[in-house]
Amino acid sequence: MRLASLSILTLFILELQCGESARILGVFPLAGKSMNILYNRLMKGLADAGHDVTSISSYENKLPIVNGSYTDVILTGFAEDYEALLDRGRFLDAHEYYPISTVNDYFHYVLFIWNNTFRHPNVRKMLNTSQKFDLVLTEHLWNDCMEIFAHIYDCPVVMFTSMGGVNPWVNDRVGNYLQASSAAHFFMLGDYSKGMTFIERIQNLAYYLYDYYHKYFVIIPSNNAILQDNFPNPPDVSTFDQKVSIVLLGSHSSLRQPIPLAPNTVEIGGFHIDPPKKLPKDLQTILDGAKNGIIFFSMGSHVKSRDFSEEKRRIFLNVFKKLDQIVLWKFEDDNLPGKPDNVHIRKWLPQMDILAHSNIRLFITHGGYGSLQETIYHGVPVLTIPCFLDQYNNAYLAVQLGYALKLSYNDKNFNEDTLYGLIQELLNNPQYRENAKTRSRLFHDRPMKPLDTAIYWIEYAIRNKGAPHLKLSTLDIPFYKLYNIDIYLFFIVSVFIGYKALLYIVQCFADSLKKNECKIKSH
Ligand SMILES: *[C@@H]1O[C@H](CO)[C@@H](O)[C@H](O)[C@H]1NC(C)=O
Ligand SMILES: *[C@@H]1O[C@H](CO)[C@@H](O)[C@H](O)[C@H]1NC(C)=O
Ligand SMILES: *[C@@H]1O[C@H](CO)[C@@H](O)[C@H](O)[C@H]1NC(C)=O
Repeated sequence: MRLASLSILTLFILELQCGESARILGVFPLAGKSMNILYNRLMKGLADAGHDVTSISSYENKLPIVNGSYTDVILTGFAEDYEALLDRGRFLDAHEYYPISTVNDYFHYVLFIWNNTFRHPNVRKMLNTSQKFDLVLTEHLWNDCMEIFAHIYDCPVVMFTSMGGVNPWVNDRVGNYLQASSAAHFFMLGDYSKGMTFIERIQNLAYYLYDYYHKYFVIIPSNNAILQDNFPNPPDVSTFDQKVSIVLLGSHSSLRQPIPLAPNTVEIGGFHIDPPKKLPKDLQTILDGAKNGIIFFSMGSHVKSRDFSEEKRRIFLNVFKKLDQIVLWKFEDDNLPGKPDNVHIRKWLPQMDILAHSNIRLFITHGGYGSLQETIYHGVPVLTIPCFLDQYNNAYLAVQLGYALKLSYNDKNFNEDTLYGLIQELLNNPQYRENAKTRSRLFHDRPMKPLDTAIYWIEYAIRNKGAPHLKLSTLDIPFYKLYNIDIYLFFIVSVFIGYKALLYIVQCFADSLKKNECKIKSH
């Protein structure tokens, strides 16, 4: 009797566990190293919560998995391909004033990646098994075609985006349409916290309209073409928006202007940041011994300091030479000719752990969104040197929030005096550190740790079969209705007709009066 109830209990517990553990497929073909830090941390988090996780990505996940199960489907060759793209040095040539052309360059490259993902033998092998999934998790970047996995496995999609700011491509997929009158587009670079002028609103609206054009005439057709080339009779990608259940934004309200968010849109910015680990001994010695503080300099993974032009490299070295601080520079070559004694170079540096050190006075960075979150996590002021895509937008926001200054790589005023001046201002004016500390406090002040928030909402999407009750009706409303264009047209036409009719009546009246007058006169 006791044994029976015990085994029933065991069965019950087992069932509960199986019920709780879901099969989750992550699809992350982009091989950018900074993005993969995020993917790996998120997928590890899901496995550690007890889920059965499969991840399609360019690298093996080396993080230790303590619970659940983890399968890597590695897109061999993708990392090398991405490196080759970066080596072309495109990013350093990009110009902040031509956002659309820069984005278009990257767009054509990523289409090539999406197409090759479906053709990759390891993905083909996976699709050829009878494996099932309860949820598909993707990073969204013009890749609606990736949701074919949700169609194949008949399950909901959770979208993730590593970009900050107001990301139009993601907002659109959940019907989170922002007002072009107040929400500055991702391409708008400047401080719009107090609203936009007439000219700025025209420019902003033009970008919004461009997004419509780009979605219907470029993104959807090219994604459909990719599916046509890889699957027999695929559905149209424009039907996939309905599969999107939750959007996880890699941003946080403490790091940008507030905007309205759809109920199925959740901010998890900073989820990848773990408490600092012990530093390697040599670095610990350098950091501990820096009496006047440390300036940490890293351009992330998309831009390599070794690709800087000769002129820029000289400017940095000459400025660093004049500083009292120690400079720790992520520099990807073994030697740096003319390196002053206060500059230490390493090919790789544990960024998150270094930023945690109390001697760090300033972080000089490209301003990738992940890096800005890591610096705010520890309340360190920033000099951003944006080069590419969202980095410009991030830089303007950081300056606006008062914890950073910026100097674009291609700024025509990029010289020794400017760089030295900006560094001195950041080091000596306490307002930047105070603002960084304020933002840090806001960044940490949340009901729940961001990784737990991500896991909660992913499980929520599974439990509630895609959470259709959270979907905004705006998703199904055509453009002209959404913006009341038909009503405006109706008003304009009505007023015009009314005006013409009134004019006609007045004219008739005047005419008949004239006639009567004539009649009276002739009598
Ligand atoms: C491990 O996974 C199980 C579900 O499979 C879950 O109930 C448990 O809480 C997880 N353990 C930890 C430490 O998260
Ligand atoms: C798919 O699986 C079948 C058997 O399960 C095998 O014969 C076939 O070669 C596989 N195709 C691919 C492309 O792996
Ligand atoms: C996908 O890749 C194949 C092979 O390289 C190519 O023939 C095809 O045109 C590509 N499709 C698209 C839509 O780019």
